Amino acid sequence: MKKILCLVGDGVGVELIDLSIELLAKIKPLLNTKFEIESIPFGGLAIDKYGHPFPPVVQITAEKADAILLGAIGHPKYDACTIRPEVGLLAIRKALNLYANIRGLTVTKELAKYSPLKPEIITGTDIVIVRELIGGAYFGKKELDENYAVDEMAYDRALIVQIVKYAFELAQSRHKKLLSVDKANVLATSKLWRKIVEEIAPQYPDIEVKHMYVDAFAMELISNPKAYDVVVMENLFGDILSDELAAIAGSLGLLPSGSFGVGGAALYEPAHGSAPDIAGKDLVNPVAMLLSVAMMLRQSFGEEVAATAIEQAISKTMAAGIVTKDLDKNEGVATSIFVTEIYKRLEV
Ligand code: IPM
Ligand code: MG
Repeated sequence: MKKILCLVGDGVGVELIDLSIELLAKIKPLLNTKFEIESIPFGGLAIDKYGHPFPPVVQITAEKADAILLGAIGHPKYDACTIRPEVGLLAIRKALNLYANIRGLTVTKELAKYSPLKPEIITGTDIVIVRELIGGAYFGKKELDENYAVDEMAYDRALIVQIVKYAFELAQSRHKKLLSVDKANVLATSKLWRKIVEEIAPQYPDIEVKHMYVDAFAMELISNPKAYDVVVMENLFGDILSDELAAIAGSLGLLPSGSFGVGGAALYEPAHGSAPDIAGKDLVNPVAMLLSVAMMLRQSFGEEVAATAIEQAISKTMAAGIVTKDLDKNEGVATSIFVTEIYKRLEV
């Protein structure tokens, strides 16, 4: 029996976790693994219940889980609080040592129509961003008063080595190309980063390695996304560019994400936020969440058949022109209708 922990977050996170649990029930005939599912409040919900977005009870439960599904967190009602829901997200990443965040995009001919890019530019894109998740400006010293603010961006060798090796290994299982993105013309952390990539490269002689400055890559990603395979970068660059990746897919609602550590449970979540404005209105695009469930089944449990069945049902539905309103303002359907259409195409 394997344990899946569902962290019920804020806004659309709540309905997305419900949909994930429903999907796991539908896919059951294809599963070899037996699952026990537990749900616990996280983020804003946990602030309301426990006074902290990542209370000890969640940490203890998370440490015992085999995989974690997270809805999405954040709500404007906590904007004035010192401990916001986002604090919980950073804390769980650090506590579980989830150092590698993966956000990927594959665009077939049928799905290219949803991208704002020209079909000839986007079709055939198969790219993965590997984002360092527990270092850099997110976790550096902070200072803030009326007239002065500091965000320290620090990286030590061990953190860089660990993520760079992860990226090389991922590239080995894919198309054997690695791009390392940095700002080595300005930042000291980037100079160290680039040096370490160069040091490690000889251990992976089959991988073609390139470096690019982050500003240049921001342009490349929208003008020539097909040219890239695995792209590795530090935390803040990865945050920004993975949203750009979602935008070229056509919507933030399309991109799944997985965060991995050394052993322990991995955490899967949609790459988007909690969208409180559309929460509970049957409007959310569930694709990012449902693809995160597929990613969990494949990566944490080796359930390749079930994962592929979910991915195919989603892409068949979208290829048939059935999408939510974020992708088609006029013809887009409600979440519930969209999900029913996915289930119709789910081959179980
Ligand atoms: C993400 C999100 C988070 C981040 C926020 C909610 C703290 O944008 O997972 O990309 O910046 O890492
Ligand atoms: Mg982000």
